[in-house]
Amino acid sequence: MKKAKIVKKRFLGTSFVELWLEENDIAHLAIPGQFVMVATGSGYDPFLKRPFGILACQENQFGLLFEIVGRGTQILSQFEVGDQVDLLGPLGNGFSVNPNEAILIGGGRGFVPLYFLAQIFTIKKIPFQFFFGIKNREEKVLIDYLTELSFPMIFSCQEKVDGFYCGTILEAFIDWYHHSPSKTLKKIYACGPLGMFQALNRMKDIQPSQIEVSLESRMGCGYGVCLSCAVKKKGSPGYFHVCKDGPVFQLGEIEL
Ligand SMILES: Cc1cc2nc3c(=O)[nH]c(=O)nc-3n(C[C@H](O)[C@H](O)[C@H](O)COP(=O)(O)OP(=O)(O)OC[C@H]3O[C@@H](n4cnc5c(N)ncnc54)[C@H](O)[C@@H]3O)c2cc1C
Ligand code: FES
Repeated sequence: MKKAKIVKKRFLGTSFVELWLEENDIAHLAIPGQFVMVATGSGYDPFLKRPFGILACQENQFGLLFEIVGRGTQILSQFEVGDQVDLLGPLGNGFSVNPNEAILIGGGRGFVPLYFLAQIFTIKKIPFQFFFGIKNREEKVLIDYLTELSFPMIFSCQEKVDGFYCGTILEAFIDWYHHSPSKTLKKIYACGPLGMFQALNRMKDIQPSQIEVSLESRMGCGYGVCLSCAVKKKGSPGYFHVCKDGPVFQLGEIEL
């Protein structure tokens, strides 16, 4: 178990919180796609730690960005700068970081591991296009956050917003892909709801081996002991543990 001190906190709108924590090992070892298990309360309530993707690392600090969806995230949102948090990490595997060219597709809070990945691609000068979708105008705070960096981005919103593709981010991607003059083999990295992965899987001219996805499942321990995060293997018997074998998988490896 590690202890990390909160060094920066800010709300993005009313339901998203960005936290920066000081912990040397995580800040130096984490790669995009990995996560931490955070104790959201003190003592045994809530009993289970909660998994959060790593947003970015800088010197001896790393960032988290989470959505308040239930009791654990509600309690965590009340922590203040200077408080200590108990956590485990970095856990799981990460994305591959050496493609020739990449497409990143994320929806809602699914942008967190992709944001870290986009920073690494920028440093490595790997060309990429980032597709990011929100459900409604309230989530526009995430767009404002992302446009603080100059990533090449295409945005979508399921409500009508000027300058945004109107629909899901996958629809925006498919539209772009069909109009794109170059269909050269690009690596696709996706993080979002299951429906997004199922639709990607159905795309005829993209191989599942070209696609890496980061899965979100309910997690009890975060390191392969409790078996709460099992996902069925595709084409062979048995299960993967999302926490230990993932959360990043090639799309062709898992049963959706
Ligand atoms: C590897 C991984 C990385 C994650 N990264 C992030 C992140 O960067 N930012 C972020 O906001 N969230 C992330 N999550 C989801 C986050 O862990 C949950 O939202 C959080 O655990 C909810 O805790 P809670 O006590 O507030 O909600 P609970 O009271 O436990 O649940 C509230 C609602 O959220 C749903 N929920 C809870 N946990 C999950 C989960 N693991 N997957 C899908 N739905 C869930 C429940 O079904 C319920 O509807 C990640 C999950 C995983 C597995
Ligand atoms: S969360 Fe316990 S085995 Fe994966």
